[in-house]
Amino acid sequence: MNLYKAALRPLLFGSKADPEWLHNRSLAVLAWLDRTQPTAFFPGLEQAYCFQDSRLSQTLWGQTFANPVGLAAGFDKNGVAAGSWPRLGFGFAEVGTVTAHAQLGNPKPRLFRLGADGAALNRMGFNNQGSAALQACLHQRYQRLGSMSAPLGINLGKSKITPLEQAAQDYQTSFERLRDWGDYFVVNVSSPNTPGLRSLQDRAQLTQILTALNQVNPQAKPILVKIAPDLSDRAICELVDLAREQNVAGLIATNTTIQRQGLKTQFAGGEPIATAAGGISGRPVRSRSTEVIRLIWQQSQGQLPIIGVGGIFSAADAWEKIMAGASLVQVYTGWIYEGPGLVKAILQGLIEQLDAHNLPNIQAAVGLSHP
Ligand SMILES: Cc1cc2nc3c(=O)[nH]c(=O)nc-3n(C[C@H](O)[C@H](O)[C@H](O)COP(=O)(O)O)c2cc1C
Repeated sequence: MNLYKAALRPLLFGSKADPEWLHNRSLAVLAWLDRTQPTAFFPGLEQAYCFQDSRLSQTLWGQTFANPVGLAAGFDKNGVAAGSWPRLGFGFAEVGTVTAHAQLGNPKPRLFRLGADGAALNRMGFNNQGSAALQACLHQRYQRLGSMSAPLGINLGKSKITPLEQAAQDYQTSFERLRDWGDYFVVNVSSPNTPGLRSLQDRAQLTQILTALNQVNPQAKPILVKIAPDLSDRAICELVDLAREQNVAGLIATNTTIQRQGLKTQFAGGEPIATAAGGISGRPVRSRSTEVIRLIWQQSQGQLPIIGVGGIFSAADAWEKIMAGASLVQVYTGWIYEGPGLVKAILQGLIEQLDAHNLPNIQAAVGLSHP
């Protein structure tokens, strides 16, 4: 029986508590778990959530990913629980988005659950303590506990107070602070909640940002770009070409959507959903996200690694994205709805798929649905 879905979720979802408040409480528990390392007292903890099989392991950008399921950006914005994610079964985690300046984000409430749609609406607006605080947090953790047990991605955004024309400098400042602490980095130009941010997906602006980062990247850390599902197919193809020209290490597809059609939920926080500001995550983004992955794979002829994210609630959803071309996948909203057992369930399901398709390992499944 899934204890989370039977007991804990009704309690959490049924309560009147603000979803953001609940989120912060859960994160505080996970941060405590990382600080105190209580697995010595609860040896069953890791067994309950972790699943190991060498067929799920891959090497990307010189890093070993023990399994392809990661935590998506935005959950652990300040990296306070950075070491806990592998203990919950994740093959990697992405912290952030962080910005060069600490910032409060948008006014609350700014996170809403759309239960009828298996979705969330958020307009957090990059609330975070800033890249200097993340650097200090990761440094302190390293001094106390040593290296992470799984690759760590760091997602970078533009501070709200920085004008769009100075975006490159803002990303560069954060990257310079954090470049020793992440295994890969993400240029997030796809959040709908920072005014003008998505315009940085344009060729000229993105080139400026990537050039600025490459200038201060002597260790050649992998730099990926995270894109929006709302770009036209043509814009995605152009972005793929640019990514290849600029030696981008990969693309993350996708962020939340500003589309509203097909939603059963009518209101969020008393506002009509059609006009409420923010991005939708979860089931409504699943198929467009997979389509974007398919397009990237086609346009790059499978030469550009893809991290697939958007609406993954099951092994079948993850498999669909891997077959479309994703080497790795990430979960956020599905993890909230399905609970912490989701990662293990996905990994077990992926092994079943490998067996059913007679494939030796997960890498052999990447892009397999393409003719
Ligand atoms: C509350 C919330 C906050 C998010 N914050 C960020 C963020 O700071 N940076 C980012 O790149 N993506 C952020 N995302 C987007 C997720 O990383 C992911 O791309 C998107 O939600 C689709 O995946 P999902 O359907 O599994 O949630 C956020 C999503 C949610 C629900």
